[in-house]
Amino acid sequence: MTTIDRTRLHHLYARETQLFIETHPQSAAFYRRAQSSLLGGVPMNWMKKWAGPFPIFVKSANGAHFVDVDDRDYIDLCLGDTGAMTGHSPPVVADAVARRAREGITLMLPTEDSVWVGEELRGRFGLPFWQFTLTATDANRFAIRIAREITQRPKILVFNYCYHGTVDESFATIADPGSGAVGPRRGNIGPPVNPAATTRVVEFNDLAALESALKHNDVACILAEPAMTNVGIILPGDGYWRAARQLARRYGSLLIADETHTICAGPGGCTREWNLDPDLLVFGKPIGSGIPGATYGCTEEVAQRISARVHLEDCDVGGIGGTLAGNALSLAAMRATLEHVLTAAAFEHMIPLAKRFTDGVAAQIRAVNLPWNVTQLGARAEYTFTPRPPRDGAESYAASDFELERFLHLYALNRGVLLTPFHNMALMCPATSKADIDAHTKIFPDATRALLT
Ligand SMILES: Cc1ncc(COP(=O)(O)O)c(C=O)c1O
Repeated sequence: MTTIDRTRLHHLYARETQLFIETHPQSAAFYRRAQSSLLGGVPMNWMKKWAGPFPIFVKSANGAHFVDVDDRDYIDLCLGDTGAMTGHSPPVVADAVARRAREGITLMLPTEDSVWVGEELRGRFGLPFWQFTLTATDANRFAIRIAREITQRPKILVFNYCYHGTVDESFATIADPGSGAVGPRRGNIGPPVNPAATTRVVEFNDLAALESALKHNDVACILAEPAMTNVGIILPGDGYWRAARQLARRYGSLLIADETHTICAGPGGCTREWNLDPDLLVFGKPIGSGIPGATYGCTEEVAQRISARVHLEDCDVGGIGGTLAGNALSLAAMRATLEHVLTAAAFEHMIPLAKRFTDGVAAQIRAVNLPWNVTQLGARAEYTFTPRPPRDGAESYAASDFELERFLHLYALNRGVLLTPFHNMALMCPATSKADIDAHTKIFPDATRALLT
């Protein structure tokens, strides 16, 4: 199989960096200016991770494209890493948000939109009761609290190399594959405790390991993406979720399906596509087209069990909720998004485009015999540097190649295509066109040819 020459890779990255600097003078100037007011020169630390010596600063974004401060136009396959899976600023959402902004943004009182959204979520995911937060991280944290409270168990279980937002318990990996001992994930900043105290970690797609972990009878909940999407895309094996669900029931643990990314599988996420039967479900990011908001829902049984334990007098100090959560503006954005943007028809447009992307990348991987693969999940696709799709987090993580990834991203960026900075992911939105995908299908072979000749 073809291998990558590292000297050549470094040389090409330097060449692409030079091109990037020459063509982005305004972004460079903003970045220099930001050094004296923003920590690290960016408003949020992840923004340092983009390929290239500085991030591009954005002037405007619309649909599947955005324009930077140097007046360059880009096809956006990152889409705010799913926050803008609706496309940027869908007009119907912009109108609803503008209207609501003039009529009261936040009141700590419900609006009619909240009822409409609750009913819609009930229909989409099949879970009867819903609550709102500002971020998917918060929704996960609150779902975990509920699980701990009603099971009276201390631990949660996550899959190795998962990502569920900045949830302390989830920054845990298998530190010693031999014993399965858990430790803080590399890069974990100031962990409040060693996550071994709060978290059990097993590999995805390993039912025996899951059962061993649940057998301790101390796991309140499994927090899981139905398919892993944050360490490449890792699909569940046949029958995995049916069996995992039964194990959770047998050992008294709840199942939280985090559909924040896997909503790409369809209007009701993987939960509907694959008939999953979670006790709680979390969905954030694009639910309001990027206006901050997220939700968690639960079964009738969970609702009854938690209601029985929460007393009215204490309900504002129990560690669940937030002053701005469930605000009128978020709910107006969610209603417009669910009613008009993330519709069944939109998925019928997006999913074939993800297939088109996948086919284009797969054809080039085959043509040059690279030991890479590409996997599609609904409207999302991702290539990883392993010959076969990885089966679990450790396998996928071991195949990551930061330098190679950065070169491919910068090469695409210099030619007007933005991929997600943390991996090789492409996401479709309702405004993405075949021409957008075909642009990537042309650039990707050019990049690989540059690497190999
Ligand atoms: C699966 C999943 N859940 C939750 C989150 C957290 O979302 P947020 O950062 O908006 O809180 C993320 C973020 O990437 C995610 O990928």
